[in-house]
Amino acid sequence: MSITDGLDLVSSHAYATQGIPHEVWTRLRAGSPVHWCTPAGFEPFWAITRHADVCEISKQPDAFSSASGIAMIPRAQEEVVREQSLGGTMRVIIEMDPPEHRGYRKVASPVFTPRAVKAMDDAIRTSAREIVDRLAGDSGEGECDFANDVAAAHPLRILSTMLGVPRESEPDILRLTNQLFASDDPDLQRKGEDRRQATIEMGLEFYRLFDGIIKDRRANPRDDLASVLANATIDGEPMGMMETLGYYLITFSAGHDTTKNALVGGMRAFLENPDQFEKLKRNPDLLDSAVEEVVRWSSPVNHMKRKVTRDYELRGQKLRAGDWLVMFYASANRDEEVFEAPFEFRIDRKPNPHLAFGVGEHFCLGANLARRSQRALFRELAQRMEWAELAGEPEQIHSAFVVGLKKLPMRYRIRPAA
Ligand code: HEM
Repeated sequence: MSITDGLDLVSSHAYATQGIPHEVWTRLRAGSPVHWCTPAGFEPFWAITRHADVCEISKQPDAFSSASGIAMIPRAQEEVVREQSLGGTMRVIIEMDPPEHRGYRKVASPVFTPRAVKAMDDAIRTSAREIVDRLAGDSGEGECDFANDVAAAHPLRILSTMLGVPRESEPDILRLTNQLFASDDPDLQRKGEDRRQATIEMGLEFYRLFDGIIKDRRANPRDDLASVLANATIDGEPMGMMETLGYYLITFSAGHDTTKNALVGGMRAFLENPDQFEKLKRNPDLLDSAVEEVVRWSSPVNHMKRKVTRDYELRGQKLRAGDWLVMFYASANRDEEVFEAPFEFRIDRKPNPHLAFGVGEHFCLGANLARRSQRALFRELAQRMEWAELAGEPEQIHSAFVVGLKKLPMRYRIRPAA
């Protein structure tokens, strides 16, 4: 009997009810690392589960294209997703192939270099401190839902600052991103409405918000990402309106839920491995390797899809032009051939060549920002959190694409701000 038909690897419902399918991936890595899946309701696809194969594929965008979509979604939802991109007219870099992709990537890459991100450190640290101050309150003791109260708030503040979203619009952008992109989680969808109509309205709301920012930054450019995008040129011509809008949206949507899910996955790992949290408190110089381990452990981007453009042989399997394949990062990040004791959470793991930020052509543009955002928050927590424990059952998000917890109830005692 086949190890899996693939449904447990791509169905949002399976992730929400059974969690991350590590057992299936472990069997696939050992017995069928390039595995043909035919899940009901989805297009058939090759499941790629080993580290080396994810690298080989990601470094050959001419053979494995991103342009036909990157997330595995049920056939029944394909129409809705087309509408989310305003009929397919809104184009984003993550779904472009070279050579076009390179020109668009160059637009924003100077804003995300380690040096440029370091210049944002004050804003990033202030966000972390304010959030932890709020948790501490007057008494220092309390209960919270770490997912919403902490992990969502931090990247929201940082990305809003970069993209010029005014503070009063932060809740709107968070709600819209959740509804448009996050998942098909029933809790996050607007209730009792025609889904198609709701999607169109949300698209228009987004458009109005960013259109105002774009016009403002064209008239009064500043030293921020919002201005870089609003005034960008491609081959000497101003970047098109749909491409500009797409860039705002991809930055926000690619940056928010991923960072949030890494933070919440990291906090859960610390609660379940208190010795590792103690170690971090005693050794703040482990912060950088702790962040890498948090990202490997949580692997918030669960998969990326590619379309095979020419016949290709991989581990003896014959992939045909036109086939879909899906790379599972969380599986590659537990590959026994690469990681010692891959199912142990070790904040001093070195080397840690995880693929949570991807690899090759589309390597995460925001990786430096994601690292510094997490570093600031875990630093603040390690310095001030005296004690913490789970205060209820964590709940998994209804998604097989950007995965993580939607609820992490916890109790804590935090030292008030110095
Ligand atoms: C822990 C947090 C994050 C994780 C795990 C993550 C993961 C990833 C992965 C796996 C890819 C590669 C996609 C592919 O190969 O097709 C990617 C691409 C991308 N990420 Fe991230 N990301 C994170 C945070 C961010 C942040 C904070 C931003 C921006 C503010 C961002 C912006 C992007 C963009 C624009 C791309 C597309 C790059 C391209 O197509 O060249 N990400 N990310």
